[in-house]
Amino acid sequence: MSYDKRITAIGHQLNFPKGLLSGQVAIITGSGQGIGAEAARLFANEGAKVVISDIDAKKADEVTKSINEAGSAAISVPGDVLDPKYPEELVKKAAEFGNGKIHIIVNNAGYTWDAVIHKMSDKQWSNIIDLHTTGPFRIIRAAAPYFRVKDGESRSIVNISSTSGTHGNAGQANYSVAKAGVTGLTKTIAKEWGPQFGVRCNCIAFGHILTRLTGAKEAGASVTLPDGSKVALGIPEAQQRAAGAAQHLDIPLRRPGTATEAAGSILALCSPYFSYVTGQTIEVTGGRNI
Ligand SMILES: NC(=O)c1ccc[n+]([C@@H]2O[C@H](COP(=O)([O-])OP(=O)(O)OC[C@H]3O[C@@H](n4cnc5c(N)ncnc54)[C@H](O)[C@@H]3O)[C@@H](O)[C@H]2O)c1
Repeated sequence: MSYDKRITAIGHQLNFPKGLLSGQVAIITGSGQGIGAEAARLFANEGAKVVISDIDAKKADEVTKSINEAGSAAISVPGDVLDPKYPEELVKKAAEFGNGKIHIIVNNAGYTWDAVIHKMSDKQWSNIIDLHTTGPFRIIRAAAPYFRVKDGESRSIVNISSTSGTHGNAGQANYSVAKAGVTGLTKTIAKEWGPQFGVRCNCIAFGHILTRLTGAKEAGASVTLPDGSKVALGIPEAQQRAAGAAQHLDIPLRRPGTATEAAGSILALCSPYFSYVTGQTIEVTGGRNI
C-alpha cells in the first residue's frame, strides 16, 4: 500500500470517515512541485479543498488538474509571493472557493540562493529574506479576517523552515536568517491568535528532502526573479561528494527524506491529532542534528 493510502487508511480507522481535513480549505504556496505538490495531494486525499499557489502557472495548473481528476477539489491561483499584491488576490480567491472560509495556510514556497558571507550581494540577501519571511507574513496578514473568527472550526498555519534556520549553514546566511525568522513569526501568531480564536501555528524545519532544491546543480534547474535574472538551484555534485553525502553518515536513518514523507509531516501537523500543538518548530530530518 502506498504511503498516502496508508495515511488515509489510518485517518479513516480513527473516526474521520471523510478524511482528516474534511470540509477544510487549504492554501499551499509553492505547490506546483516538490513538497508543496505532495502536500496538496495528501490534503486533497483527506477531504480538503486545496488552493494551489505557485509562481509557475503551468505546474500549478497541472497539479490542480490531477487533483480534480482524482475526484477531489482544487483551484489554481498562480502568482509570486514576492509580489505585494499577490497575497490579497490569493486570499480572496481562496475564500471564494471556500464559500467564505479558509482553514489552513501552508507557507512553503521558496528556494535558496547561496553564497559565503563575504561574497553575498544585497540583492541575494533581501530576495531570500523577503521570499521566506515577508511573503508569508503578508499572506497571513491578508488572511486574518478568515482566521480571527469564532465558528468552532479548526484553523492551522504551517510555516516551512529549515535546519539552516535552526542550526545555521555555511553558505546560507540569507536563508538561515530567513528560516530562523519564520520560527519567530510562528510563535507570535500562536500567541496573538491562539487565545481568542484557537488558531494553531507551527513550523517544520526540514533537513535533506529529495526535491530539485537538493538535486545536482548540474541538472540546470533555476528560478526567474521579477527583474528577469535567473537563480540556479541545486547543490554542486562535487560539494555533495566532498561532504560524504552519498552515505548520509550524519543522518541516523542514513537517507534523505522523500517529498511525500515531508508532506506527511505537514498533514500530521494540520490534522486533528495535533490539536494541542502550537508555536512549535518540529525538525523533520531523519534524526540529523540530534
Ligand atoms: N528540499 C529540502 O531539502 C528542503 C529543506 C529545508 C527546507 N525546504 C523548504 O521547503 C520548501 C519547499 O521546497 P522544495 O524542496 O519542495 O522545493 P521545490 O523547488 O521542489 O518547490 C518549491 C516551489 O516553490 C515555488 N516558488 C518558488 N519561488 C516562488 C515565489 N516567489 N512565489 C511562488 N512560488 C514560488 C517554485 O516554483 C516551486 O514549485 C521551501 O520553503 C524550502 O526552502 C526544503
